[in-house]
Amino acid sequence: MNNLKNRTVWVVGGGSGIGRAISVKTALEGAKVWISGRNIVNLNETAGIIKRKHGSARVSVCDAVDYLQVKKTADEIINKDGRIDTLVVSIGRAIPGSLLDTSFENWKDLQSQHLDSLFLCCRQALAGLKKSKNANILVIGSIFGLKGKENRLAYCTVKGGVANFVRALALDLAGKVRVNSICPGWVQTEMSMKLVDATEDPKATLKARHGWHPIGRGGTPEEVADLAMYLISDKASWMTGQNIALDGGYTAR
Ligand SMILES: NC(=O)c1ccc[n+]([C@@H]2O[C@H](COP(=O)([O-])OP(=O)(O)OC[C@H]3O[C@@H](n4cnc5c(N)ncnc54)[C@H](OP(=O)(O)O)[C@@H]3O)[C@@H](O)[C@H]2O)c1
Repeated sequence: MNNLKNRTVWVVGGGSGIGRAISVKTALEGAKVWISGRNIVNLNETAGIIKRKHGSARVSVCDAVDYLQVKKTADEIINKDGRIDTLVVSIGRAIPGSLLDTSFENWKDLQSQHLDSLFLCCRQALAGLKKSKNANILVIGSIFGLKGKENRLAYCTVKGGVANFVRALALDLAGKVRVNSICPGWVQTEMSMKLVDATEDPKATLKARHGWHPIGRGGTPEEVADLAMYLISDKASWMTGQNIALDGGYTAR
């Protein structure tokens, strides 16, 4: 369990869900983990889990769509650890809706949450990543960045943007920083359960979410984190520019 020994890993969105599972596994692989997000209580909870497992975790409150806050966090990490080996971006929310029931406000908000944050975090982390011999970026995309889906117009649009951001950035940084994404199917987290609970019949909706996947169930944050451990380690040293579906067979159709 030492594939990431002494690596500095910054997990944006490490306070909950998939980002939390990645933070914990990264720390157990020997990395020095920095967790950022807006909610200090959630960040401290993740750090507490890591510390109880004898890992290294530091937290930084940072709104990923705020240029100055992102710069402050990136600079703090680089000043304290000298470099950034891995940047993980696992943030944002999903908003259901087709063209007419997506407000312009929600449309713009989703772009900011998923795309502005990605741009800002990658840009500010780059100076630190360039100081690493094993530099890489991992983004959490979605199967809905690879395929269309009814009633998910804004979310499909931004996740499609994330997938092509990954390809284009990987080309620009080839040989210096590897850039990949994991595109999960439905994963049970706070975010996904909020959407389920907001439906008319949450029990039926939950069953339907699991039923999306040929395997017969949705995924867990830990299953996403397992693939993340491979992608951010040197075992994936030849892999860049890829958006990898992890989805119980959803995209095999
Ligand atoms: N769950 C699924 O079914 C699923 C499937 C495919 C893809 N994904 C993707 O996986 C990623 C993580 O989702 P999740 O399910 O793990 O949801 P989650 O538990 O709600 O985690 C999202 C995290 O993003 C952080 N965040 C949101 N806006 C932020 C901002 N402006 N600045 C900093 N942090 C921010 C939140 O922390 P704060 O509130 O503390 O800021 C939270 O910790 C998202 O990109 C999502 O689209 C999820």
